[in-house]
Amino acid sequence: MAKIIDGKAISAQIRAEIKEQVGTFCAEHGRAPFLSVVIVGDDPASQVYVRNKERACNEVGIGSDVLRLPSDTDEETLLSLIDRLNRDPGVNGILVQLPLPSGIDEKKVICAIDPSKDVDAFGYENVGRILTGDYDFLPCTPAGVMELLKRSGISAAGKDCVVIGRSNIVGKPMAALLMHENGTVTVCHSKTADLPAHTRRADILVSAIGKAGFVTADMIKEGAVIIDVGINRTPEGKLTGDVDYEGCFEKASAITPVPGGVGPMTITMLLKNTLKAAEKQI
Ligand code: GUN
Repeated sequence: MAKIIDGKAISAQIRAEIKEQVGTFCAEHGRAPFLSVVIVGDDPASQVYVRNKERACNEVGIGSDVLRLPSDTDEETLLSLIDRLNRDPGVNGILVQLPLPSGIDEKKVICAIDPSKDVDAFGYENVGRILTGDYDFLPCTPAGVMELLKRSGISAAGKDCVVIGRSNIVGKPMAALLMHENGTVTVCHSKTADLPAHTRRADILVSAIGKAGFVTADMIKEGAVIIDVGINRTPEGKLTGDVDYEGCFEKASAITPVPGGVGPMTITMLLKNTLKAAEKQI
């Protein structure tokens, strides 16, 4: 039977630590770290994410504002807003919520953010720094996974680590971070031949493909650590991960639930990055 990795509790603990560090920052510098969140259009999921980010900042004492632009905003207007935020010394972190409306080049926008304010760590400079291991910021979701492992006493060193999914935001940086921790990493994706043959060898399995119930008990090794990054909705509207939780629970040594596993860690890592950005800029 698996130990449940309680992302909600671990996240609360880290947020309390961040709140204390933010207090120290405020006392030393007479102002709070500040995050500007830019959202273009009215995608309902993005609206929820942005509200949650704003609330989380508030709870730990980080200042924030949300700059809402209409869905017909052109690229030039967005780029000039980013330029203004880059030059504003009162703004420590800049986050442009994705996806952007079609017609706007996401890569161009993300790479326009000053790398020292790029708290999502999606810009090319930060991506390159992550790959070489010389980084200030880590992308929030993979960083959250590493923190969950660390605080659960699970080391990747010498372990077979399998990541399902090769996105720029999760799969690729996840593989890099596990390598930095001396894991032996395999990345599986939609074109992998015999994917279960890989997952069955995993001591640590990280699933980030966005398919409900994709990872079943027959695909995992006895005693494996299962990290579920998936956020999916069942036809009934219930939130669920990529992993058949009930099935894998008996076989795994540790497992993250959905909700309450990786999810709460993502915004927590954003708070950590914003504080770090502010400290580095002073
Ligand atoms: N959209 C979905 N997840 C994210 C995220 O982590 N950062 C940004 N900027 N947009 C997102």
